[in-house]
Amino acid sequence: MVRIACIDGDGIGPELMDSAREVLAAAARADGFDVEFGDEPGGARVFSETGAALAPGALERFRSDYDAVLKGPVGLPEVRHPDGTEAGVLGGVLRGGLDTYANVRPVRLLPGVRTPTTHQVIDYVIVRENTEGLYLSRGSGVRNDRAASDQLLMTRVGVERVVRFAFELARRRSGAPEDGVRRVTCVDKSNVLRSFAFFRDVFDEVAARYPDVAADHRYSDAAAHDLVVAPAAFDVLVTENFLGDLLSDLGAATVGGLGMCPAGNIGADAAYFEPVHGSAPPLAGLDRANPTSQILSAAMLLEHVGRTGTARRITGAVESAYAAGAVRLGADGTPEGGTRAVTRAVVERL
Ligand code: IPM
Ligand code: MN
Repeated sequence: MVRIACIDGDGIGPELMDSAREVLAAAARADGFDVEFGDEPGGARVFSETGAALAPGALERFRSDYDAVLKGPVGLPEVRHPDGTEAGVLGGVLRGGLDTYANVRPVRLLPGVRTPTTHQVIDYVIVRENTEGLYLSRGSGVRNDRAASDQLLMTRVGVERVVRFAFELARRRSGAPEDGVRRVTCVDKSNVLRSFAFFRDVFDEVAARYPDVAADHRYSDAAAHDLVVAPAAFDVLVTENFLGDLLSDLGAATVGGLGMCPAGNIGADAAYFEPVHGSAPPLAGLDRANPTSQILSAAMLLEHVGRTGTARRITGAVESAYAAGAVRLGADGTPEGGTRAVTRAVVERL
């Protein structure tokens, strides 16, 4: 039995979550175990109705009543704090509240999917530090009419644990596509900012403890360039919160768009899984959004709870649906037949 807390979220969230639940239930059935879904409301709509982005006690339940959390995209443009930032997007609440310090964002070009790059093999993982960096300033920056400022914080404990996570992940993965060498690339702006020089120094200290994994460096601007022109140079990347947020959307653009990209937020005793993208309110309820990111997030969840075979069953079915041309993406990244057609094409191949 795998117990999954479901945060359906806003906009296209509920329909993507329906798709993921259908795939999870069918895959678990095929492998002879049960999944139990618990409904846990959360997001911008919940915030506007109740004044809190999650129901009382939700964080505790995630830790004790469930094996992991599957979350749909959240956020509604009209739901904002008085300072202009978005309300109910759960970034700080979940990542800080569950201390999920590693945001794991695989970027992989599936067979049959068109890329705007000239590369046919794109397969790397961005590990985004998830609990500090620039976004720790969320809600505490200062602003007046003439100026505004936010603070970027790096701590030794925070950098060390996420860098260690990246090296452990590199050991489990098969290596960079180019040369098969296991590699972790530190992405920073240490040529300009002290906080990033600190990040790089801690990275180098940790890297020395992993002699079997190559350690590499890129300044963040060069990383953005190379992710487009030389993606095969990358295996695992580790970077600061804000940079990881940017670079993971850039990576998504090279593999068919945000609708292709899942994420896992992993901590020592809790984890949640979600698409990399937002809630796309204009597409909500239209059966148009691409559920692939949500389905692949569900597969990451299963892998995390030790159901590796079932996770592979799902990723295999997704790959084969794209490879066979049963799912084709339009120019705007939405699938030609719609959300439910993608779900059916995947479930048929499980
Ligand atoms: C993401 C999102 C979030 C973030 C927002 C919605 C708070 O962009 O998960 O990448 O900034 O991290
Ligand atoms: Mn983002």
